[in-house]
Amino acid sequence: MGVMNELEARIRHWYSDIGAMTPDNLEARRDVELVISYLDDGLLRVAEINEHNDVVVHDWVKLAILLLFRLRGMETSEAGPMEFHDKLALKHDYARRGVRVVPGASARYGSFLSPGVIMMPSYVNIGAWVGPGTMVDTWATVGSCAQIGANVHLAGGVGIGGVLEPANATPVIIEDGAFIGSRCMVVEGARVGKGSVLGAGTILNPSIPVIDAETGEEVSRGYVPDYCVAVSASRRRAYPGGEFFLPCVLIIRRLGEGERHDKVALNNILRESGVST
Ligand SMILES: CC(C)(COP(=O)(O)OP(=O)(O)OC[C@H]1O[C@@H](n2cnc3c(N)ncnc32)[C@H](O)[C@@H]1OP(=O)(O)O)[C@@H](O)C(=O)NCCC(=O)NCCS
Repeated sequence: MGVMNELEARIRHWYSDIGAMTPDNLEARRDVELVISYLDDGLLRVAEINEHNDVVVHDWVKLAILLLFRLRGMETSEAGPMEFHDKLALKHDYARRGVRVVPGASARYGSFLSPGVIMMPSYVNIGAWVGPGTMVDTWATVGSCAQIGANVHLAGGVGIGGVLEPANATPVIIEDGAFIGSRCMVVEGARVGKGSVLGAGTILNPSIPVIDAETGEEVSRGYVPDYCVAVSASRRRAYPGGEFFLPCVLIIRRLGEGERHDKVALNNILRESGVST
């Protein structure tokens, strides 16, 4: 059995008795802390996309995160005049990691930020993985276990939902080069493909239809495919009480593979100069 398989078996064993876990269980704590340190250094991931373009969730890693909350006691910490009271520590060593973190931003220990990530005053939760060169703009939140690709822009106020339970639930996936417009909410295992642009204010979850404006067809629920420009729209829906308009996501344009939307290119220039958009 490989070292990782052994660790997985031990985590599953501790999780089967999660109700009995307390900070005094040092053996369990040692195993769980090891998994979280691997997450923090990007040696383990909660989920990834395999060669068939399917999302694979490593549920045992999530079990370790759930166990961590049982195994760690509350601690008070201080930063200048600010006080916090929590079970989890914050991330450290940003210079070594090649990550720029603007005051007011915080990432929890057990999240992974690749080199070249810029965090404007924003938040990244445990289990999240953020790829190289990605910009997490002001007031954006990256929920627990969300997987954000390389060179992504999460614009101001974007809410990427966290998915911890159930353990096998797919986290939110934003693929390489995607641009997520201001105040979008992408939650509950929704997915945005490579190079796609989500217009400001779009809500995407696994029950929201994604419709191709060219054909009128519903191409998926909760998944914007690669190289699409998609905006929030509404669709007519009849109920016994009358007709209502429910939100959908409309693909208004397809980009060529590798093509960047011109408005997004402008944002890249601002980003290189360290200006928040
Ligand atoms: C999605 C977006 C990239 C589309 O830009 P575009 O390809 O130039 O398309 P257009 O502006 O011509 O818009 C196409 C249509 O979609 C509509 N539309 C544009 N953005 C929209 C949005 N966010 N939500 C809903 N509809 C939108 C337009 O009204 C237009 O309708 P029309 O064809 O009837 O005129 C852009 O509008 C957007 O939302 N950018 C993100 C901005 C942002 O969040 N920036 C972050 C930093 S401030």
